[in-house]
Amino acid sequence: MKSSAIAHSNIALIKYWGRSREHDPNLNIPLNDTVSMTKYGLTDGIHLQTHTTIELSPDYDKDIVTVEGQEITGRHLERIIRVIDHLRALANIDYPFKMVSQNDFPTQAGLASSASAFAALAIAAANALGLKFSREDLSKIARLGSGSAARSIHGGFVYCHKGSSHETSFAEQICTRDCFDMNAVIAIVDMGKKEITSDEGHNLAHTSPFNHIRIQKSQQQAKKIKKLILENDFNAVGQMAEANCLYMHSVMMTSQPSLFYWQSATLNIIKTIQKLRIEGLPCYFTIDAGPNVHCLCQSKNMHELQKLIEQIDGVEKTILVRPADDAYVTKEHLF
Ligand code: DP6
Repeated sequence: MKSSAIAHSNIALIKYWGRSREHDPNLNIPLNDTVSMTKYGLTDGIHLQTHTTIELSPDYDKDIVTVEGQEITGRHLERIIRVIDHLRALANIDYPFKMVSQNDFPTQAGLASSASAFAALAIAAANALGLKFSREDLSKIARLGSGSAARSIHGGFVYCHKGSSHETSFAEQICTRDCFDMNAVIAIVDMGKKEITSDEGHNLAHTSPFNHIRIQKSQQQAKKIKKLILENDFNAVGQMAEANCLYMHSVMMTSQPSLFYWQSATLNIIKTIQKLRIEGLPCYFTIDAGPNVHCLCQSKNMHELQKLIEQIDGVEKTILVRPADDAYVTKEHLF
């Protein structure tokens, strides 16, 4: 009962921020439909992926998890066990498990490590237990670990339905990576771990007076952006993604306590993107729960944009990305 899987991180174009309070918070049901691009890194061997191996066996004394060589405890372990418990119950097997996971990028630096991590875990664990699921059903299992992980089951461009229950809250593919020409230059401003994780931040969304309007607007934007992706309308998608990012950061900044993820370099990048656009280079920004900026562009402009972004004060490094393929089972085991 051993299996391994690889999944890629994703960048949200229409964001998930805040869990539904009408449901068990452990289900991670988002307040609005969300849309994302699953990303494949092209720089310095960083593919923005998580590789996970899991084995269930009566020979293990307890559940044990090692990520990047460190044994995991506390809240992180709880989230992993929640996913595995769900699968153990379905398979009617109660063996303890050993799990080892490796990211090829810095964790918790706003590059969405939990998304690729829980997508890889859901696929590897289901396969280890001999359970067969559709990708949509796998996305529900990944969501039990992390809301954004539901989307990383699929490659290309992805639509996540908020739904109204565990069964109806799932992600599906809008189209594969070739159907829409969008790449990104990730501007890394700070590689360090963030002080307030998204896991904690989700609990604060409802304290912002702008929360309900963000939810309402995001719900409309998710439906519209799906159509724009299928029409291959890069500028309209970029504009909408940028607006939606600012809605989310407005909610973060106006929460109690206020969550302010930006650093001065973050603002330098925003200003540069706006200026480049006026000068005729089509590019847009989006930012998750951290200071790093995803600069969205078409593939033909990616290298030119990278050079310009690298000149900005405070940018430590850039990573180029294109859309990735689906998450998959691999025969390469980590132990
Ligand atoms: C800002 O689903 O990653 O990236 O796994 O619980 O930490 P936890 O939360 P996660 O939250 C994602 C928040 C976001 C926006 C998004 O990806 O939609």
